[in-house]
Amino acid sequence: MANEEEVLVEVRGLTKAYAANRRVVDDVSLSIRRGETLGLVGESGSGKSTVARMLLRLIEPTAGQVRYAGLDLLKLGSHELRVMRRRMQIVFQDPYASLNPRMRVREILAEPFAIHGEKPAEGLTARLEEMVRAVGLEASALDRFPHAFSGGQRQRINIARALALKPEFLVLDEPVSALDVSVGAQVVNLLRELQQKHGLTYLFISHSMPLVRYLCDRIAVMRMGRLVEMGDCDAICTSPKEEYTRQLIAATPEMPVAG
Ligand SMILES: Nc1ncnc2c1ncn2[C@@H]1O[C@H](COP(=O)(O)OP(=O)(O)O)[C@@H](O)[C@H]1O
Ligand SMILES: [Mg+2]
Repeated sequence: MANEEEVLVEVRGLTKAYAANRRVVDDVSLSIRRGETLGLVGESGSGKSTVARMLLRLIEPTAGQVRYAGLDLLKLGSHELRVMRRRMQIVFQDPYASLNPRMRVREILAEPFAIHGEKPAEGLTARLEEMVRAVGLEASALDRFPHAFSGGQRQRINIARALALKPEFLVLDEPVSALDVSVGAQVVNLLRELQQKHGLTYLFISHSMPLVRYLCDRIAVMRMGRLVEMGDCDAICTSPKEEYTRQLIAATPEMPVAG
């Protein structure tokens, strides 16, 4: 166990049951250190997104604890939670469903500032231009609607929005699973650059072992709501202890990502 200062997120005994005898997440404990990327892997339906949503308190756990920067997230009142929410953001899998088709990119990216009643020091226009450039798009993107963009570009817009209020922690819930491999690789490289530049902490959810291996420091492997294996990413990828992990690795072919 890393010491308190290094740990940003600590989860103990996290459990979610939708029916009395069906726990979709069962007694999950893990910690995420500042500045690292923790990979959360497992086949579809194993409970990854449910863990992520409980961790951000987007859904309430049935049992368990979430500590964020030393605070008990589940005990925070609505105001405190709102303040905390600025520090943690999520990027979802589907780049088509996650952008409002009736809003221009300018409005989409300005929304977090409006919601939190914040004015960027450099002025909103300058900040919005900086935000789109930071994810590899032109400033002219601000005046377009989401339909003008490809899936990869939309995911870049989602990332820009997630970073609007300069959070320290991002949950990336299969952010490239809906994209072509080469487009996804570019988005993953962007995520890596942004992490280095801003010292971000990531929870990276994926079912692609090669991607996880490329991006993550440590991984946690989920199966049917339970954590079956957790540890150093290279160690687990080269010599998994669990047969289930071995199968996950075997299920996805090598996919080199240009650095
Ligand atoms: N709101 C819900 N009500 C009932 N069951 C749910 C709900 N959300 C998720 N589940 C179930 O929980 C399990 C885990 O889902 P999920 O966390 O989305 O898995 P993953 O992200 O690993 O694919 C699945 O069997 C799913 O059907
Ligand atoms: Mg999911």
